[in-house]
Amino acid sequence: MSKTGAEESLTWEELREMGPRERAREFEVYGRLFHVLLAQQFDRALLDELGVQATRIRHIAKSKAGMDFLRSQLSHKTAMLYFTQPSSRTFLSFHSACQMLGMKTVEVRDTATSSEIKGETQEDSIRTFSSFADVVIMRTAVGGLAEKMAWMLSHTERPIPIINAGSGKDQHPTQALLDVYTLQRSFEKRGGIDNKTVLFVGDLARGRTVRSLAQLLTNYRGVRQLFVAPPQLQIGADILELLDAAGVQYELGDDFEAMLPRADAIYMTRIQDEWDQQAGESRQLDLARYNFGVRHLKLMLPHAVLMHPLPRRQEIATEVDGDSRAVYWRQVRNGMWVRAALLARIFNCCGPIREFHGA
Ligand code: NCD
Repeated sequence: MSKTGAEESLTWEELREMGPRERAREFEVYGRLFHVLLAQQFDRALLDELGVQATRIRHIAKSKAGMDFLRSQLSHKTAMLYFTQPSSRTFLSFHSACQMLGMKTVEVRDTATSSEIKGETQEDSIRTFSSFADVVIMRTAVGGLAEKMAWMLSHTERPIPIINAGSGKDQHPTQALLDVYTLQRSFEKRGGIDNKTVLFVGDLARGRTVRSLAQLLTNYRGVRQLFVAPPQLQIGADILELLDAAGVQYELGDDFEAMLPRADAIYMTRIQDEWDQQAGESRQLDLARYNFGVRHLKLMLPHAVLMHPLPRRQEIATEVDGDSRAVYWRQVRNGMWVRAALLARIFNCCGPIREFHGA
């Protein structure tokens, strides 16, 4: 196994041609978590461990003594937040998670303020960041770029970890981690995520959170996945191939109200019209059929949960927020705990956190 992931032997072109599962293996570093690029890097054991650790951090953070302890864990590390696409929750929760563990943070959120405006390549930008930081957390409109940067850094003298905080229409693995953590907690007393039915609704073709979560859910036994979308925005064939390979039961449809009563979790998403080929293309679709209104609460199972990665537009009426089954605001906060657990895992401070019995 390679030391720094995607070692010298493979060119970027060779790596890019491989399937996601094979690529995930290439990025392993002595079998431990280093780069976080693809949902395919996470198995059941790691998902369980991250969930337990996130909850532990959540409890420790309740007291001043606990926060002081957490802040001492990574006070020698610096994180670079390189977000060239808009972000509220992902940026803030990574920022908060870093600070919770005592990490210093530096950021570029607009390439007009960095040397990219002078024509510097993203490779050279990332390499520059790696001179000052111990991890780069990056969001970009370019699918696969985080992987390319991880590959590039593995050929340098400072191969620091890269965390994908959203890459084009492709993947958003840490959003999927917080979604799984929310599902773990929601179904804690109902046998966990195994054997549940998850209904995805909205723009499934271009929604990277759905693509990463559909993949993560293959780690659970007997999970059925239902995909409801306008035909033009249905889930991609590549995801269905992954589900087929994992023996997952799934159904595709466009009748939201018919599928809703069968779901233990409903995952609403917004239309990703920033990817429209022609201006206004998405507006021609009958999107009202894929919105969740007050009347849909009656169709939901009593124990089901309503999720959304946010930001929302009209997909969920604000009147629904007060229902105890609406968990999207809990998802936001869970993002901070799970990202702190992830950083603790990458930087090897899980042991002290596990053993903390503080005040
Ligand atoms: C999502 C994203 O950026 O993919 N937002 C998020 O990180 N919670 C979803 C979206 O933008 O629709």
